[in-house]
Amino acid sequence: MPMIAPSILSADFGNLARDIEMINRSEADWIHCDIMDGRFVPNISFGFPVLHAVKKVAKKPLDVHLMILEPEKYIDEFAKAGAAVLSVHLEASPHLHRTLTAIRQKGMSPGVVLNPHASVSLIENIVADVDVVLLMSVNPGYGGQKFIENTYGKIRDCKNLILAKNSTAKIEIDGGVDLHNAAALVEAGADILVAGNTVFSSQNPAETISLLKSVKKNPVVA
Ligand code: DX5
Ligand code: ZN
Repeated sequence: MPMIAPSILSADFGNLARDIEMINRSEADWIHCDIMDGRFVPNISFGFPVLHAVKKVAKKPLDVHLMILEPEKYIDEFAKAGAAVLSVHLEASPHLHRTLTAIRQKGMSPGVVLNPHASVSLIENIVADVDVVLLMSVNPGYGGQKFIENTYGKIRDCKNLILAKNSTAKIEIDGGVDLHNAAALVEAGADILVAGNTVFSSQNPAETISLLKSVKKNPVVA
């Protein structure tokens, strides 16, 4: 059964506490928080004041995905804001080992993120040092984009690399996850599914979270 991390990027920001309380009551495992700076990615999302507000209401761990340049500058502040998992992009981190070590030293679980074009082999020297490998299945920046099919092969490569390096990292998939591809993603080796649009644009978000979680047992036929 996969872990599910609803992305609040697709939540109603005018009713954020209500949407977080829905996640609290649901079968979701983590709350995925997307931080965008308008420089590493073309969009700007939200920052520390919002994250602090989320933390106050949240009863599940905050899974914070940084889409920002120079993420190393803000590690301490994200720890104070209550991040449980802090993931940084390989493409934004020239000193990745130092950054991930600092994240762990601050008591958070470090994650590394790969953009869709980046080969899994790029993390062979760091995969043993992370708790999460987040594979982007869309180009980061926006919710509601189309899933990139090449992701399946990357999940399999990543699983093999994790086994070869005796890593305990979990594989997280982010972008375009829905009720039709979730079972195949889990089958390929995904441990954690992020879902924004699929959850928040559905009639019953809590039920959609349950469906995503049980998708391997009851695959949805397209
Ligand atoms: C995209 C973000 C995602 C986004 C996913 O840059 O990293 O977390 O919220 O949204 P959906 O599930 O709608 O593709
Ligand atoms: Zn994300």
